[in-house]
Amino acid sequence: VERQEVADRPDPFALPDISALTIGIIGGTGEQGRGLALRWAAAGMRVILGSRDSARAEAVARDIGNDVRGLSNVECAEGSDVVVIAVPWAAHRDTVVELERSLRGRIVVDCVNPLGFDRLGAYPLSVPEGSAAQQAAALLPDSRVVAAFNHISAVLLLDVNVAEITADVLVLGDEREATDTVQALAAMIPGVRGIYAGRLRNACQVEALTANLISVNRRYRSHAGVRLTDV
Ligand SMILES: NC(=O)c1ccc[n+]([C@@H]2O[C@H](COP(=O)([O-])OP(=O)(O)OC[C@H]3O[C@@H](n4cnc5c(N)ncnc54)[C@H](OP(=O)(O)O)[C@@H]3O)[C@@H](O)[C@H]2O)c1
Repeated sequence: VERQEVADRPDPFALPDISALTIGIIGGTGEQGRGLALRWAAAGMRVILGSRDSARAEAVARDIGNDVRGLSNVECAEGSDVVVIAVPWAAHRDTVVELERSLRGRIVVDCVNPLGFDRLGAYPLSVPEGSAAQQAAALLPDSRVVAAFNHISAVLLLDVNVAEITADVLVLGDEREATDTVQALAAMIPGVRGIYAGRLRNACQVEALTANLISVNRRYRSHAGVRLTDV
């Protein structure tokens, strides 16, 4: 009976076809937003950059090309199926609260790392809800929040000479359809795998790990990411 149950489980490497989805990026004019937009648009996805200033979004979108559009954050959220939050931690709560209505029914991907910096380097900030992703989930009861893209370097995403990024994107969330979709989105970036890494309550250590990666980067002058073994 046990063997049968294992055979009935869905193949973890079988990911949905997401080619019909539109991807929005809130704070899409920033480093991370531009980098993700560049890669997804190159892979043929429909991408909308959001900004507090739609003219800025338009200008950045034009620069990226590949039919990327630039709109206000509200229009970006409303016009997308999957919406990435890519604003600084300091702006996270207010941005999410402001967009709550526009984000209803969407998959919301949070890549925000709550980090502080002092003379010793980067360190994780404590978040009352547990993590940035859990804060978003608490503020967005009618969206499906997924944590992902926390470790993928904007420098590598933006470097057109980097054809493939050898990294795993850890994808965390409480609904399989949503995490599968985001894993497929990660896999659109050449070289990247999207790996399911647990429920949203475990997002805190994923966000915090970025502080370790920043330490690695400072010592080795690298743009370190994460690659899991034996998966
Ligand atoms: N950079 C990376 O390599 C990297 C990697 C993984 C994860 N992340 C995470 O991704 C997020 C964005 O990082 P980033 O480097 O792209 O940051 P960023 O360039 O400093 O900011 C991103 C965008 O957020 C918007 N923004 C800035 N301040 C804001 C405010 N007070 N209120 C509302 N929107 C504001 C701006 O867009 P508009 O002015 O156009 O509205 C800005 O272009 C961060 O939370 C970071 O932890 C970054």
